[in-house]
Amino acid sequence: MHLGILTGGGDAPGLNAVIRAVVYRAVAGGHSVTGFQRGWKGVIENISRPLGIEDVRDIQKQGGTILHSSRTNPFKIENGLGMIAATLSSHAVDCLIAVGGEDTLGVASRLSASGTRVLGVPKTIDNDLNATDYTFGFDTAINSVTESLDRLETTARSHERVIVVEIMGRHAGWMALHGGIAGGAHVILLPEEPFDTDEICALLKRRFDEGRRWALVAVAEGASDPGLSRQIMHSSEPDAFGHVQLGTGIGIAEVLAGEIEQRSGLETRHVILGHLQRGGPPSAFDRVLGTRLGVKVVEMAEEGATGRMASLRGGEIVSVDLAEAVGTLRTVPPDRYAMAKLFFG
Ligand code: F6P
Repeated sequence: MHLGILTGGGDAPGLNAVIRAVVYRAVAGGHSVTGFQRGWKGVIENISRPLGIEDVRDIQKQGGTILHSSRTNPFKIENGLGMIAATLSSHAVDCLIAVGGEDTLGVASRLSASGTRVLGVPKTIDNDLNATDYTFGFDTAINSVTESLDRLETTARSHERVIVVEIMGRHAGWMALHGGIAGGAHVILLPEEPFDTDEICALLKRRFDEGRRWALVAVAEGASDPGLSRQIMHSSEPDAFGHVQLGTGIGIAEVLAGEIEQRSGLETRHVILGHLQRGGPPSAFDRVLGTRLGVKVVEMAEEGATGRMASLRGGEIVSVDLAEAVGTLRTVPPDRYAMAKLFFG
């Protein structure tokens, strides 16, 4: 059997562990692998390289993806599907493995419905994919958020300031929630629940008045106060999947920090953690999860599966329908946010 593999969307620590595991398991089963570069772009434009054991040895330790990534959407490119079919047939690919989040796997799901043999592996630091308990990349990213909050705490304490920390998460606040709980943020703001800046100011003032004269506010980049008058300036161009491109202009942390300082009189700074959250070596958890998923997806290919995804469910790696994973995002449920609120202030 000849397998193709691509990595699409924002990179996530653990991608290289998947690629390595796919190649090792494929070779052990007597199969060969072609790596398509830059996500769907590589399949459309036929940019690829053969992957053997020496190409992937030890790469589970490295962040990013040796195959590079892009946010190319084949359904937005004229004859995109025809070009994909031509490339896969020129390489005699029996089954394509797409490693990605909602967008990349959404394409995989549609492709499989149109007859191409595709399997998926879930990836995203945002942890917002359905049909899997966790995605790899998330653990590394929240450890990075936690370490950042630990570092910001000492300087906030020293200067008796508020620091507003912007954390990735456009539509789902998992990273702000878990990073904020672990790093002891005094307020956590998520895209799922619009907030009121006056309420945040009252909470912070109470905290300072009670003698705890410093505070960390963890805000997901997609969180918003509908009443804020100052504009949040993002790129006016949505990406190929129609998402607003956050992190390209003035973000919520900068706007909120200004509002807090103005309304409460508390000295306030802001920090955007940005791509620091996505970079660097994967945690042990993400290396192992990526490895298990990579091995499983090759087994699924051997069984003749298509339109399915390797997934973490209750500690086991299982095969689920790709369609279950895409279409809607897994957002933070209200009761989970209510639990986090116990620790506010
Ligand atoms: O989807 C993962 C993610 O890291 C989001 O949390 C973030 O909003 C986005 O990617 C950033 O994308 P880019 O790397 O294109 O700026």
